[in-house]
Amino acid sequence: MKPVNVGLLGLGTVGGGTVNVLKRNAEEIARRAGRGIVITHAAARDISKARICDTTGITLTTDPREVVDNQDIDVVVELIGGDGLAKEMVVRAIENGKHVVTANKALIARHGNQIFAQAQKKGVMVAFEAAVAGGIPIIKAIREGLAANRIEWLAGIINGTGNFILTEMRDKGRDFADVLAEAQKLGYAEADPTYDVEGIDAAHKLTILAAIAFGIPLQFDKVYTEGITRITREDVAYAEQLGYRIKHLGVARRTAAGIELRVHPTLIPARRLIANVDGVMNSVLVKGDAVGPTLYYGAGAGAEPTASAVVADLVDVVRTLTSDPNNRVPHLAFQPDALHDIPILPMAQVETAYYLRLQAQDKPGVLADVTRILGDLDISIEAVIQKEPSEQDSSVAVIMLTRRVREEKMNQAIAHIEALAAISAPVMRMRMESLK
Ligand code: HSE
Repeated sequence: MKPVNVGLLGLGTVGGGTVNVLKRNAEEIARRAGRGIVITHAAARDISKARICDTTGITLTTDPREVVDNQDIDVVVELIGGDGLAKEMVVRAIENGKHVVTANKALIARHGNQIFAQAQKKGVMVAFEAAVAGGIPIIKAIREGLAANRIEWLAGIINGTGNFILTEMRDKGRDFADVLAEAQKLGYAEADPTYDVEGIDAAHKLTILAAIAFGIPLQFDKVYTEGITRITREDVAYAEQLGYRIKHLGVARRTAAGIELRVHPTLIPARRLIANVDGVMNSVLVKGDAVGPTLYYGAGAGAEPTASAVVADLVDVVRTLTSDPNNRVPHLAFQPDALHDIPILPMAQVETAYYLRLQAQDKPGVLADVTRILGDLDISIEAVIQKEPSEQDSSVAVIMLTRRVREEKMNQAIAHIEALAAISAPVMRMRMESLK
């Protein structure tokens, strides 16, 4: 049978990895797909640049429109990133009746509802396994492998750069800025690293995971997003002393009142498997009502791990080229007319346990004032440690763990604590999850 012709948009790290994997495993991939898969055309900003792949046999151009409009191309692989040119090209490819494979989390999280509706109308597939957690087949696992389940919650380490930074801070006592610079040098970080450290990249990925887990539309603007920039080496060490690890988690949970969608630093018990996912690796824990907890682990970024997901999508697309578009796996796991508009809970209504770090003057009665504020709001304390006074002044760090409480109550408590004359700095607060 005639091979399927693929056009690539973007020949950077993931594009180069995709060319290499498709070439190296061509025979095995054709045996799986039932047809050969060949990259015939590729668009790159600078076609004379040195690459990690051999582009012999691929027609190169600087104009992505030439690829998207080429009648001989069956599938377009979008690896440009962002939601400017990439969106324009994906929309145009679908309009031209081409299937699309993309690794673009921002594009899917922010414009996926519109893109999938357009694809549905044109009878084409838009596959996006590589958009979440790099090489881990988490989209396929949730969308197909767990299709029997009512998903209750999921929690994931879905930004490798953030995890690398937190791991280095813990293992080597390094400072945040120093580790971030290294992550950028190693090529893990987004073009704009604030996307990694402020949680935006993780929020894009969580938006996608929540949609396919719960059968809801993509709602990036409703994700509560907090980054890792305020965490200090001391916080990492205090958490360890209390038996916890700080991880930057994306959490999506179904509750009776609505769905929680949140990305923030989280203390989790150090003995949990996911607490031991270190460096640039990603991991997602998914709890289904029938299967119980399931855990997925692997490389969340990098040339070939991400190419692994891109090529798997290509194989899927090729296998379904001749099937009735109405009988394909739906883009968002649930049939498009069966998505539910379940409300997303405002963060103030979310209930979690808390880690608090206060900087308090070392004098009698301060701790009593703090515990009274918590007690009056019915917030129960689980553990307290007080550190030695610092050498610069007479203040002491007090670390408290609380039991579960609604966020709005904790906000009130923190406001009252910060108003005490003996509390000298803003209270550092992190949420805690037992992930049981
Ligand atoms: N910047 C991302 C990360 C790359 O660090 O996880 C993969 O999406």
